[in-house]
Amino acid sequence: MLKFAPDTEVLLLDDDEHLRTALCQTFELAGIRVQAQGSAEGLLDALPAQWPGVVVSDIRMPGMDGLQLLDELAGIDAQLPVLLITGHGDVPLAVQAMRAGAYDFLQKPFASDLLLDSVRRALDVRRLVLENRQLRMALAGQQQLGERLLGHSVAARRLRQQVQALAPLPADVLILGETGSGKEVVARTLHDLSPRCNAPFVAINAGALAESVIESELFGHEAGAFTGAQKKRIGKFEYAQGGTIFLDEIESMNPEVQVKLLRLLQERVVERVGSNQLIPLDIRVIAATKEDLLLAADEGRFRADLYYRLNVAQIQIPPLRERQDDILPLFTHFMGQACQKYQIAEPELPAVKRVLLLGHDWPGNVRELQNAAERFALGLDLAISTPLQDLAGKEGLPLPQQVEAFERALIAAELAREHSSLREVAEALQIPRKTLHDKIRKYGLDQSSVGGNPPG
Ligand SMILES: Nc1ncnc2c1ncn2[C@@H]1O[C@H](COP(=O)(O)OP(=O)(O)OP(=O)(O)O)[C@@H](O)[C@H]1O
Ligand SMILES: [Mg+2]
Repeated sequence: MLKFAPDTEVLLLDDDEHLRTALCQTFELAGIRVQAQGSAEGLLDALPAQWPGVVVSDIRMPGMDGLQLLDELAGIDAQLPVLLITGHGDVPLAVQAMRAGAYDFLQKPFASDLLLDSVRRALDVRRLVLENRQLRMALAGQQQLGERLLGHSVAARRLRQQVQALAPLPADVLILGETGSGKEVVARTLHDLSPRCNAPFVAINAGALAESVIESELFGHEAGAFTGAQKKRIGKFEYAQGGTIFLDEIESMNPEVQVKLLRLLQERVVERVGSNQLIPLDIRVIAATKEDLLLAADEGRFRADLYYRLNVAQIQIPPLRERQDDILPLFTHFMGQACQKYQIAEPELPAVKRVLLLGHDWPGNVRELQNAAERFALGLDLAISTPLQDLAGKEGLPLPQQVEAFERALIAAELAREHSSLREVAEALQIPRKTLHDKIRKYGLDQSSVGGNPPG
C-alpha cells in the first residue's frame, strides 16, 4: 500500500514511467519534495487528514482515471488542489475536470516551468486553506470553551487556557477539584476539543461500582470466566477505543483494580477477565479526584506509582470561594437560565442577598450555586445560611469594625455588578459620588470592573 512520507509536497500519479521519472527530477531540482506512483491505487486510504500538499495526476490511467480520482478526493477534502495532465486531444476532458473542481490542467508536452509555477501556486493556496481551517477550529473551540466553562475570574480564565492547551494533546490528564467544582465538565470539554471528539467519551465512577463487578465492567470478561459469566462481555475500556475514558472518584478505586489499571496505562493493552489475549488500546485517560492523592498514597490507600502514572498533566479547579469574582456573574447566569426554562420574569437581586452570596463558602461549589440560583429564580429562599458576622470574617470584633466590614462587603458587591460608571454605582447605593470615592479608597476596593469592560 502507498505510504505517505509526512513531508511530501507533491503526489505524482502517472502510468508513464519515463514521464514520471522526468517529472520527479524536475520537482527535486526545484526543491519540491515529491512522491510518485503509477496509479491512484491506495491513495484514498493513505491520504493523511489535512495533508499540506497537492496531487498532480495524469487523466488517463489504468484503474481509477483522473476524473474519478478528482471525484473521490472531493469527497474526502474538496479543497485539496488537483492538477491534471492531459494528453493531446483530451482538452474537452480537461475542461470537464476544471468544471468539476480541478485546480489546473496542463497539456502534454509542457514546459517544466509552467508545471512548477502552477504547483507552487497550488501549494500556497493549500497552505492558506489549512491555516484558515485551523484558525476557524481554534475559534470554534474557544467559543465552546467560553460557553461551557463560565467565569471572568483569573482562575476561570486560566482554567480555560489550560483546557484549550491540553485538549489537542495525547497526554492523560488528572483533574483535581472539590465536589461540584466542574471536574466532569472539564473532562468532557477536553474530549470534545480533542481529535478524539467523534469517538466515545465513557465516564466511569470508580466509587459507585460494586467491587464484585468492577473488573468485568472495566476490562470485560470471556464467557465462563466466572460463575454467572454466561456471555462474553466488552469492558468500558475496550468500548472507549479511539476515544476518552473518564475515571471519576479515582481515589475510591480498590487496590486490586488499581494494579490492573496501572498495567493497562503502562502497556496500553487490556485483558478481559478469563482471557490471556491482550487487546491493544488507543484511549486517552482522564481521571478525577476530590482528594489529595499523594496523601492517600502516604496513608496506603492509593498506589503512588499509579498516581504518578495518572498525573501526566494536571488541572486543578479552584473552589468557588477562592474565585469570588465568579460568584455573582455565575449566579446571574444560572438565574437567567432558570427564568428562561420556567418562563418567568427575572427577579431583582438585592444588595443584601449579593453580600450573602459573596460571603457564603460554597462547599458544593458551582453545583450548589446553580441550585441556589434556580431556587431564587422561583421565588424560594436562597437556603444558604451565612451569619452576617461571618460575611467578612470579623466575628468577635467590636461593633464598629463589624459594621465597616459589612459596609465594605455591600460596596464590593455593588461594584461587581455590571455598572457602566461609578456614578451608577453611587446611585444604586444611594450615596453621593464623593462618599463612594472615599469609601472605595478607605477599604482599598477594586473598581476595575466598572465601566463596561469586565476582565476576560
Ligand atoms: N465553570 C463552569 N461554568 C458553568 N457551569 C459549570 C462550571 N463549573 C461547573 N459547572 C456546572 O456545575 C455542575 C457541577 O459540575 P460537575 O458535575 O462537572 O462537577 P464535579 O466536579 O464533577 O462534581 P462531583 O465531584 O460532585 O462529581 C454542572 O451542572 C456543571 O455544568
Ligand atoms: Mg463529577
